Amino acid sequence: MYRAPRGTLDILPEDQPYWRHVTERAHAIAALYGYEYIDTPIFEETSLFVRGVGEGTDIVDKEMYSFQDKGGDHLTLRPEFTAGVMRAYLEHGMRTRPQPVKLYSLGPIFRHEKPQAGRYRQFWQFNVEAIGEMDPALDVEVMSVAWHLYEDLGFSGLSFHINSTGDPRCRPRYIEALVAYYRPYLHLLDEDDRRRLARNPLRLLDSKSPAAQPIIEGAPKITDYLCDECTQHFARVRRYLDALGRPYVVNHRLVRGLDYYTKTVFEVYAEGIGAQNAVCGGGRYDGLIEALGGPPTPGIGFATGIERIILAMKERGIAVPGLPKPTAFFAPLGEESKVVALRLITELRAAGVRALLGFGDRSLKAQLRAADRAGATYAVILGEDELAAGQATLRHMAQGTQQNIPLAGLVAFLRDSEATR
Ligand code: HAM
Repeated sequence: MYRAPRGTLDILPEDQPYWRHVTERAHAIAALYGYEYIDTPIFEETSLFVRGVGEGTDIVDKEMYSFQDKGGDHLTLRPEFTAGVMRAYLEHGMRTRPQPVKLYSLGPIFRHEKPQAGRYRQFWQFNVEAIGEMDPALDVEVMSVAWHLYEDLGFSGLSFHINSTGDPRCRPRYIEALVAYYRPYLHLLDEDDRRRLARNPLRLLDSKSPAAQPIIEGAPKITDYLCDECTQHFARVRRYLDALGRPYVVNHRLVRGLDYYTKTVFEVYAEGIGAQNAVCGGGRYDGLIEALGGPPTPGIGFATGIERIILAMKERGIAVPGLPKPTAFFAPLGEESKVVALRLITELRAAGVRALLGFGDRSLKAQLRAADRAGATYAVILGEDELAAGQATLRHMAQGTQQNIPLAGLVAFLRDSEATR
């Protein structure tokens, strides 16, 4: 028996009400804030992610689905949206549009991670980017999109974790201090942390290794090393959050797993979620477009995992609206009735009324059971007697009541009934 590949999920029809609801709300809230939808390819040139996300990150070093195609091109299934969206911004000359260019996307992302609850190898992100503007008010707008989505979906106890990761002027001085601080502890570090110390020292701060925790506690804080510009930017972000009454925690350990971040970084936590698995992460990436060969262009964005949101909603018992059910289920009894049923169903569907047919010449009882399982409002019973009289028996499934309706008026009746539901 084949099974879905490790770390992938089938999203079955019974899960679709969650998916439909969460993605519809994401579209609606993105529109509310003036973000436009963009779709980029699921694979890109491998070097885009190596340059964008950065060598030395877990994503690039360990997690990319990279391959050479039949033409010899080196390609990678996107392990995030941001680099691809920046590529599209440059390729389509979007810097000639009014800035900031505000874009969002929804779609599958691929990372070869160790699968566990809430961590998959193929998962969906809702991704938001605002490109071409330095104003810290934009940082707060982007953060508000994430906040608004979780609030709208019914989460409570929301708070931001924020930090600043500085910029190329002030960060090197901080990294020097961090590496110097870690040097005497080298013998206490596990292999992963030693690798981080050599390749990506900032990531030492979010090490999960128990031995590393007391060391991290005493580590220098980046906020003590920021240049004036970064200090002021961070102060204004906090000022705007205060003005909006949005709770936040300055988390000195928040460094994020992608290399492109500068200045503001943030994650969102809600009551009971986020502690083990972040639902949302983002920040500024003012050097990314330049690193990809474009002119200096600032930007900020975030992404949130749809599966993680849905898992958390289910854990909290947050209900979502069901998907539409059929208005009519036709139960024909005999060949002549089936011909009439087919004709009527075709007419109904053409009029936009949801209608199903009972297949396979089954008994009335079996067909009524099928109508019930399908959640139909009415069963339309078409037997020989009904046909001879030019009418159908209409059974209201929930109430168990029946009435006769002339065939000539059936389509209009069901169309009106669907419209008034
Ligand atoms: P990220 O923190 O790597 O950021 O991922 C964002 C979100 O994707 C996470 O908070 C989580 O909800 C979800 N996620 C990540 N990995 C997995 C996984 N293995 N299984 C399920 N869900 C997962 C980025 O991707 C950045 N590109 C965000 C960004 C946009 N920054 C600026 N613009």
